[in-house]
Amino acid sequence: MNDFLCSDEVATYEKQKVGRTTLVYHQGRLVAYYTISNDQLRTEYVKKHTGFSLPNEMRLEGIPAITIGRLAVSKEWQKRGLGTAIIQKIAMYALHCSTQSGIRLLLVRAKKNAFGFYEKMGFQYVIETRREKQRIQNYGTKTMFFDLKTLSDLES
Ligand SMILES: CC(C)(COP(=O)(O)OP(=O)(O)OC[C@H]1O[C@@H](n2cnc3c(N)ncnc32)[C@H](O)[C@@H]1OP(=O)(O)O)[C@@H](O)C(=O)NCCC(=O)NCCS
Repeated sequence: MNDFLCSDEVATYEKQKVGRTTLVYHQGRLVAYYTISNDQLRTEYVKKHTGFSLPNEMRLEGIPAITIGRLAVSKEWQKRGLGTAIIQKIAMYALHCSTQSGIRLLLVRAKKNAFGFYEKMGFQYVIETRREKQRIQNYGTKTMFFDLKTLSDLES
């Protein structure tokens, strides 16, 4: 968890306005943090996905999203529900923002060790396009998405 926080990366992300990091404390101790940004996912990644649909007539190059760039829970707090609570908080924030500007997806480029966690949170893998195959090969991460429409449909 410290690797990212102790680097200059957080400050640079903040300064360049490309990612906002939120620190989570419990009784004065840092227990988790996450970084989110506005983003979009190229339509080709989900267009023919069985878990996603858009009206055929819509011609979008990208689907608006909020990307979870970083998420880490301290070792002593893992497997105690904190990761779930953070994902819920981000989803609620995204739904709130989507009342003012379009946001359809939560996105993450998940590391192998966290695939199971995001699956449990309801995230799905994007279609393995040529780009996605390259990403997997180069970085070992997989792009996963959560469709916020499934939540807002529940609300209405
Ligand atoms: C991945 C991480 C954020 C999960 O946070 P957490 O607080 O431990 O998650 P939760 O306690 O809310 O777990 C929710 C569910 O996911 C499961 N889970 C948690 N981490 C998991 C993992 N790495 N793989 C598979 N399942 C996992 C839990 O067992 C739990 O399942 P249950 O509801 O059946 O009991 C945390 O383990 C972490 O910080 N890991 C190191 C950094 C990292 O990998 N970040 C993600 C980068 S993309």
